[in-house]
Amino acid sequence: MTRVLLLNGPNLGRLGVREPEVYGSLSFADLVTSGAQWGSELGLEVEVRQSDDEAELVHWLHEAVDTRSDVVINPAAFTHYSYALRDAAAQVTKGGLRLIEVHISNPYAREEFRHLSVIGPVATGTIAGFGFDSYRLALLALAG
Ligand code: DQA
Repeated sequence: MTRVLLLNGPNLGRLGVREPEVYGSLSFADLVTSGAQWGSELGLEVEVRQSDDEAELVHWLHEAVDTRSDVVINPAAFTHYSYALRDAAAQVTKGGLRLIEVHISNPYAREEFRHLSVIGPVATGTIAGFGFDSYRLALLALAG
């Protein structure tokens, strides 16, 4: 069975409380539940994690390479400036695994600093702007 690490960056543990007008009213706990449910519907083994810590996210991307897991990642604010995360993401895709960058909102419709993704160029693909459905669509792409 395809194993997928569904990783979330800083402040995404605050979903439901943080700017609900942008990110919606569902919580991170809801994402954990949905991720497991979507995984079982699609025949994927999905593990949902969140960290505010760049180093921990980098280590989880190394783990994806070592365990041959595909990745769905919402790098949150790290999207826009973390070369460490980009270098780790590149190891995933250059290692023959798939990595899909996901955003709940559409960063291109927001402030200018959000228009740049340093992860996008090394990702397999990007899905943004569909709320929690962005994650489901990414899993659908991996299952297909
Ligand atoms: C986000 C968009 C980022 O610009 C922001 O820093 C986030 C969340 C999204 O899911 O829409 O934290 O990645």
